[in-house]
Amino acid sequence: MPAKSKTHCIGILTSGGDCPGLNAAIRGVAKTAIQEYGMHVIGILDGFRGLVENRTIPLEAMAVSGILTHGGTLLGTSRDKPRKMVMGAEEMDMTETAVKNAHRLGIDCLVCLGGGGTQKNALHLHKKGGLNVLTLPKTIDNDVAETDISFGFDTAMAIATEAIDRLHTTASSHQRLMVCEIMGHNAGWLCLGAGIAGGADVILLPEIEYDLNIVSKFLRDRRRSGKRFSIIALAEGARSKDQAKIDREAEKQSQRMKQKNGDDLPVFQEPKASRLARELQRLTGIEARMTSLGHVQRGGGPSPTDRLLCTRLGSKAAELLAQGTYNVMVAVKGEECVPVPLEKVAGKKKLVPTDHSWIRSARLVGTCFGDQ
Ligand code: F6P
Repeated sequence: MPAKSKTHCIGILTSGGDCPGLNAAIRGVAKTAIQEYGMHVIGILDGFRGLVENRTIPLEAMAVSGILTHGGTLLGTSRDKPRKMVMGAEEMDMTETAVKNAHRLGIDCLVCLGGGGTQKNALHLHKKGGLNVLTLPKTIDNDVAETDISFGFDTAMAIATEAIDRLHTTASSHQRLMVCEIMGHNAGWLCLGAGIAGGADVILLPEIEYDLNIVSKFLRDRRRSGKRFSIIALAEGARSKDQAKIDREAEKQSQRMKQKNGDDLPVFQEPKASRLARELQRLTGIEARMTSLGHVQRGGGPSPTDRLLCTRLGSKAAELLAQGTYNVMVAVKGEECVPVPLEKVAGKKKLVPTDHSWIRSARLVGTCFGDQ
């Protein structure tokens, strides 16, 4: 006999960039919902677009078995927003259609697995459409507000750390500077964590504007003191003081071009590491190379820590659904998974505080952040 539940049918979708642990989290929610509470679980394909276009699959116990270790998401994902969705050649507000479809499917609550954008979209469906929602914090960037950690972060940090480890041996053999670009959008958590764990000599974060002259002096001093090589961990969102101005102008320019050409595609991302490596080679006279880790950081299966986290978050989500707790994100606070009102999460970003203890520890072991 399943335990009593106030929720009988849920839809699950994954939205935003994929990351390791999504399947583990889907499994955590669905297995608990089905086995413990006898809920009916519907999988919605390709994020909010699948809800609007009515593309779903049944998620029965068998469908979520054996997926704990699988990378990506079995449901597919997209960055589409219900309130601003490109339909044919037009951008339309599809909120009403999304909500109608959810009701037609008999969904009592929509479970959304995603990062900052997903939290906002879920809250929008609740506020504008009256739909019950519940979210889980997913992102390798670790920038979702009100949670100690997001799933996907631990795995990505392990991948980036291993990459830095590998760069050490080749950097040392050739006496080079190695610039390694690490994802994280506008937050520096991933670069900071992997940079410290990988023993990077310089860590450049979005939260601390760096001065190129300070970085190059640090690297020249290292060389003079007999160090054969240096590793620079560069967050994709990090900027030098001068570059910040130039980038803002370039971004405005490309937005204008996009509007003029009616181009739907986002601006193509070039690796920033290339420019920094070129500049550092010029300023230090030391041969430099660059590596941009890119989507390798999001590929493959989740780490044991992420598998555990996803199982805890997913099963807690199903427990909350059974109690009829809606419009919350399941957050990690210390040892516990707890519900936090979505209102407190959506629209906020958890950046690295510049006085964070990780930064302090790194400075104490001599890491340069390009600011002093
Ligand atoms: O949010 C996760 C993330 O990997 C960011 O670190 C990165 O800036 C972005 O997604 C890349 O997005 P996309 O896969 O759409 O290129």
